[in-house]
Amino acid sequence: MGKSGESLGFGIEGLDKILGSFATPPYTIVVAGHPGAGKTTMASTICYSNALKGYKCLYISTQEDREKLYKYMSKLGLDLEKVESAGLLKFIKIPIILDADEVAEMISRFVSEEYSVVVVDSVNPLLDIPEKKSEKRSWLQNFFYTISRIINGLLILVTEMPYGSESLELGNIEFVSDALFILKQRKEEGFMVRSLEIRKARGAPVLLAEMPISISEGKGIEVWVPPILDEITEEGKQIELHCDLLRRTLNHIHRGIVINIVYPPDTDYVDLILVLLSLAMKENMKILFVSYKYSPNTMREAAVDNLVRRGFDRELSEKLVEKHVVFRSINPFSCSVSQLVMRESSLINELNPDIVVFHSVEIPRQTVSIVDHFRELYNQMNYLKKQGKIIVRIGAYTDDFSYRLESRVADAVMRLEHEISEGNIGYRAYLWRRFRQPYIATYEELNECVEEVVGHIKKLAAPTSEQ
Ligand SMILES: Nc1ncnc2c1ncn2[C@@H]1O[C@H](COP(=O)(O)OP(=O)(O)O)[C@@H](O)[C@H]1O
Ligand SMILES: [Mg+2]
Repeated sequence: MGKSGESLGFGIEGLDKILGSFATPPYTIVVAGHPGAGKTTMASTICYSNALKGYKCLYISTQEDREKLYKYMSKLGLDLEKVESAGLLKFIKIPIILDADEVAEMISRFVSEEYSVVVVDSVNPLLDIPEKKSEKRSWLQNFFYTISRIINGLLILVTEMPYGSESLELGNIEFVSDALFILKQRKEEGFMVRSLEIRKARGAPVLLAEMPISISEGKGIEVWVPPILDEITEEGKQIELHCDLLRRTLNHIHRGIVINIVYPPDTDYVDLILVLLSLAMKENMKILFVSYKYSPNTMREAAVDNLVRRGFDRELSEKLVEKHVVFRSINPFSCSVSQLVMRESSLINELNPDIVVFHSVEIPRQTVSIVDHFRELYNQMNYLKKQGKIIVRIGAYTDDFSYRLESRVADAVMRLEHEISEGNIGYRAYLWRRFRQPYIATYEELNECVEEVVGHIKKLAAPTSEQ
């Protein structure tokens, strides 16, 4: 038991989430991967977080010097010096010149029951011990079994996979482990994408075979448990829309709805923010507006200006927008699609909005094959639905295929098209709500709707403005 009374764990949030309660000691984890995949980082993190709980850790390295390891890990947020001087970490470097038997001998000499976590980084020098395969297997099995019994905690065995080799050659070591993690890195759209494959985890129902991870300055290794749900979620309670046209055509909306709004590529549809704002005011909701195109300030100003144009006082407009809308922007070309989904999800977790607007969705659509994008998108949507978010995807029409695909996953669609009326360019809208007959609203009808919504905002804002 650690000094703090907390039980041994991985100390990596995502991993603890999916495997935590199953890793009852003695537990042996094999961490495999190519050079640079993050094995040392993962092993050190498990070591460090347990040391912070008061468990003693022994780090046996066959590769790295203490100084080098401590320096790299401190950049990733692990203060190994600190836990070492608190007597909770011991680092040993085994000289490479030793032969395999001597390595084994040295490892067993240092291991003792005072440790709860033992890392061997890496076990490769041991893999050549007896020549014959079956002998090797039973030798290794015995050796590591003994160690894990002595410490009665977590034994972490790191194993190097040479570049180019995808098969593990692990037959032997796989047998001794309770869990087998394979760390991977690949290039996706020019970005380094890391992932963790859980090949085996004794006692745990592992539904996810592979999940994205990241290694970053100050944060170290993070494991992302992707939002995959095996069921399509139920919808939430009905929420009334604020204009007659929308009520007639889209009926009501509810938490968990997906609304797809499409406009011509050479325009923006700024009135949307009014509809959302009045909804947010009435229902006391928060909107997260993620734009792939404009900066948060540009979006905020556009929203405020639109209110001012509709006759609202600037100060009040700013107050209303401030109160209900958070603007963020992400350049979707600065990361891969799976990383984009990861960033958005952590943003959503952090801010916990009721309505999530994805703006200029046509832009990330251009980053990868739509098929890859769609899969991520669909999972993300289901995850947000499950959380009861109202999801609004808004973007320019680019091509028919994308439009159809996005429409298929939406519960409601509003497609705006230019219409010239008495010399003015306005919009007409094709409105469709799941299981209903589509409707084409004219320029006048749309204008009337916006007027109505503005009226609502005025009414809703009245008490606050008098305060
Ligand atoms: N400060 C840092 N910020 C971001 N990434 C880092 C940092 N330090 C190391 N890395 C990344 O972490 C990886 C090193 O992982 P490491 O655990 O040493 O791999 P392995 O032990 O599997 O060879 C490298 O690929 C490197 O790019
Ligand atoms: Mg390493």
